[in-house]
Amino acid sequence: MNEKMSDALNGQINAELYSSYLYLSMASYCKRLNLEGFTRWMEVQALEELSHAMKFFNFVNERGARVELKAIEGPPVSWDSPLAVFEAVYNHELKVTGLIYDLVNLATEVKDHAAVNFLQWFVNEQVEEETSADNIVQKLKLIGSDGGGLYMLDQELARRVFTPLPGTTILAGAAAGA
Ligand code: FEO
Repeated sequence: MNEKMSDALNGQINAELYSSYLYLSMASYCKRLNLEGFTRWMEVQALEELSHAMKFFNFVNERGARVELKAIEGPPVSWDSPLAVFEAVYNHELKVTGLIYDLVNLATEVKDHAAVNFLQWFVNEQVEEETSADNIVQKLKLIGSDGGGLYMLDQELARRVFTPLPGTTILAGAAAGA
């Protein structure tokens, strides 16, 4: 694999692991607010990000390139409100979409068609990630300071479940053995 490409994919493994860290930190913030459903949503999101990291990890390995795990930056530990935390989710996902697009541009430039094809899954995933975060931001704006509305949204977010992705073998194996 082209070295620029493998470096960039290694950078994305780090970015996905940071995302997982970030959502785990947000889960702890939501837990401190006693919002159990929000906490669950963030915990599932953290697991999804870990599975994204594994998808990149497996792809780099399968292509015979070297995985280089770098230090993961510490995320913030607090936000101003449930709305602020979901606005931060949305903005973070916009940033990740930009990183995925940069990877597609690089893969195209170095004519790595396998990588272009592989990255398409993430292009689609980012549309979903942005939409679901934005939906929750819009609901929180409607809810405003209505405690009843916040309670109902918390119940809704509690229903989120994690489904391991095919191709993220370590996680799938761990889930089967659980
Ligand atoms: Fe891995 Fe939220 O994108």
